[in-house]
Formats: sequence, C-alpha cells, structure tokens
Amino acid sequence: RVIFALFGMLALTWAEPLRFDGYQLFSVLTKGYEDTRFLYDLSENYPDLDFWRYPRTNQNATILVPPGLVDIFKAGLEPRGISYQVVSTDVQKIVDAGAPLAPEEEANRKRQAGTFIDHTSYHTYNRIIEAINLTKIAYPDNVQLSNLNYITHEGRVVTLVKLSGSTSATKKPAIIVESGIHAREWITPAANLWVIEKVLEDYKAGNAEARAMLDKYDWYFVPVANPDGYDYTHSTNRMWRKNRRYISTRCSGVDLNRNFDVVWGTTGISRTCTSDIYCGEAPFSEPETANMRDLFNSLIDTAVAYLSVHSFSQYLLVPWGYTEYVSRPANADELDRVTTKMLQSLISTHGTNYYHGTAWQLLNYAASGAAEDWALTRKPGIYAMCYELRPRYDDPRAFILPPSEIIGTAQEYYASLKTMAAEMRV
Ligand code: ARG
Ligand code: ZN
Repeated sequence: RVIFALFGMLALTWAEPLRFDGYQLFSVLTKGYEDTRFLYDLSENYPDLDFWRYPRTNQNATILVPPGLVDIFKAGLEPRGISYQVVSTDVQKIVDAGAPLAPEEEANRKRQAGTFIDHTSYHTYNRIIEAINLTKIAYPDNVQLSNLNYITHEGRVVTLVKLSGSTSATKKPAIIVESGIHAREWITPAANLWVIEKVLEDYKAGNAEARAMLDKYDWYFVPVANPDGYDYTHSTNRMWRKNRRYISTRCSGVDLNRNFDVVWGTTGISRTCTSDIYCGEAPFSEPETANMRDLFNSLIDTAVAYLSVHSFSQYLLVPWGYTEYVSRPANADELDRVTTKMLQSLISTHGTNYYHGTAWQLLNYAASGAAEDWALTRKPGIYAMCYELRPRYDDPRAFILPPSEIIGTAQEYYASLKTMAAEMRV
C-alpha cells in the first residue's frame, strides 16, 4: 500500500496534463426526431463523447470527439445524412488560451491591480484560498471564514465565505451561492471571487446597492465546492467535470450536480461510472454534496435563496430542472418576475445576451439530482436558480472562457445579484 501510494505521488508529480491535440469539436445539425434520438443514443453508448451542447431537432449540438472516436463518429452520422461541421481541430489551442499564468506574471498583475488575486487569470485552489484569507484580513467585520463539514476524497477542505454588513446583530435572511461544483467551469469561482472582493470594497465605500446587499442579507459563498475536481483540471485533465471519488481502475468521479436528493437517479443521469453524468451510489453519497446539504440545513430557518453557478451558455435556469415537461414550482411567477429583472441587469451591463427558462427549455436536457431543485424541495418558496455564465451556448471555447472576460462576466453577474437583493420579497 505504502509503495503504491509513493508511486502514485511520483506519478502525480511527473505527469503532464492531458493534451487535446487531435480532438475535434463537431457541430451537428439534427433535422428530425430520428437524428436527435440517434445522437442521444450515442451519448449514452460512448461516454467519451463529450456533449457540450445537447441535440434538439433543428438546432446544432456541439460534441467534443477524442481522436480515437472521430472515425466512428463520422461513420455514424454520414449514412444517416446528418450534416455536421468540424468547428475546431485545435482544441489544445483553446485550452492554452485559458491556461493559468506563470506565478511571477500572476504576481505582477496582481500588484498592478492592487487586488487580492489577479482577476485577469485563472488560479489553483490553494491560490484562491490564499486570496480569500486576505479578504478576511482586510475586512474582518464583514467576512467570516469556516470549513464545511466533510473533507473531500483527496483530503481537501471546502471553504465557506460568509459576508455580512458591519451591523449584523441579528440573524438575517440567508443567500447561499455555490460555484465550482463542476470542476472545469473555471469562470464560476473566478466570478464569485471578483464579486466577493468588489462587494466588500463597495460596501466600505458606502455604495448604496452593496449596503443593501450586505445589510439586508447574510451571504454564504462556497466558491469552490469541488476542490479535488478543480485541482485535477489544473494538474491532469482540463475537461474534468466530476469529483474525484475513486471507483475502480476503470473510472472515477461522481457528477455532483446529479447527486442531490431530488428525484435522484431518474432523468439526465447515468449509472455507469465512466459517464460524466454518473449520479453516484446514492443521494448525497459524496462529501461535496453532503457539505452543501448540511450547510443549507443549518440555515433552513433563514435561507431565502440558493444560487448554483455554472458555465456556459448565458442562461438563468429556473426550476424545475429535472423534468422534460415544463413543470413549474408553486412560486414560479415570483421566480420569473425576479429573474426577468435579473436578466435585464445581466444584459444591460455589457450587452451580453442572457435568457431565462427551465433546463429542458434552454439546455435541451432535464437532469435530476441538481442542487437548486433540491434546495427548492427542501424549502419551498425560496429563490432557487442556476446560472450558466459566459460564453454563449454555441461558442466553441465553452468551458475555457478567455481570462480577459473574467471581469466583464463577473460585473454583469454582480449587477444581477444586486438586482436580486433589491427585488426579492422576503
Ligand atoms: N449544466 C447544469 C448541469 O448539467 C445544469 C443544471 C440545471 N439544473 C437542473 N436541474 N437540470 O448540471
Ligand atoms: Zn456545470
């Protein structure tokens, strides 16, 4: 065992990240139910096909195809007359464009901007935690840090950042913001880090909207809910989505956003551990989801909102996300009213187009076991929603948003949080 562990550590130290040379990004237009069905079957039978956008009749699906499957994939489409385009043969180049900087360059930029972390590049989990600790030192009255209940499979601690106004004698309504539950969605921790720093700065400067945010509510940010997966996307595989549960030599990882206890194991999941949407052995089988459950339960009396932050597509998704029918919760009208306003803020800040609707309406798939659906069943009436940040649903850069867009993305997202805080009826 010890010897194996040593080997494992050496292998980890020496291994180079997976490269994406020879991967091809396909855009596939399905013209009828049969074609769409065929693509869905492919996604189930070939877990190594990475569906970046799911198919729907008369729309384009986007699929990342590894070198070994390119011929098989084409051979499936061609006889059926399904038209496709290869939109990128240089996925490695996209990956490189979003790579973290060398430490010295990162430090330079940070110094120049005078911020706790460089908001024009992406960072490892350790660096993110360092920056969070700096915010605590700079704003001791407004920041409280703690660790969630469970350490991860690889032994990481998940940090909770509580923000509140300086005069918070009583318990205020609580807003929970979860990001980085999907490892490769780097923009989501990055955007929340920017917001955390910005709202503290604005609060201190006496900005009315920031005051309204922090004086009226307690904010509970979990910026990196899945730190094992997040670090794995830095060290080993940029396209990793799940956590790092070891299952067998063949596969690892549970899709955490299929692991919450809400119609668990039904729609939009796989029972095969090699799949990117593997729902795990049981609801809340994973430390990372159990963490979010325990956090929410501990705030059950005061919780008024649960925001699950993902990328990409530029959507604001509202429940229910688990069903292929358009089924809506009892507070749907109120959710739609507030998300409509939030959308206006998202759009007007930089002219970025966002849409709101259910997952099935916008993403072309339903999925059980997701965070915001669970939170809303656990506490009916709350403002539960799921962001899909930049880029747009058809952008080939997908999970690799250029770091030059971090701040713009965060600014429009921040604007929508202010609007939410102002509009909520609690
Ligand atoms: N992209 C997210 C995921 O696949 C969307 C989840 C939306 N919520 C839902 N209940 N379907 O996890
Ligand atoms: Zn996601």
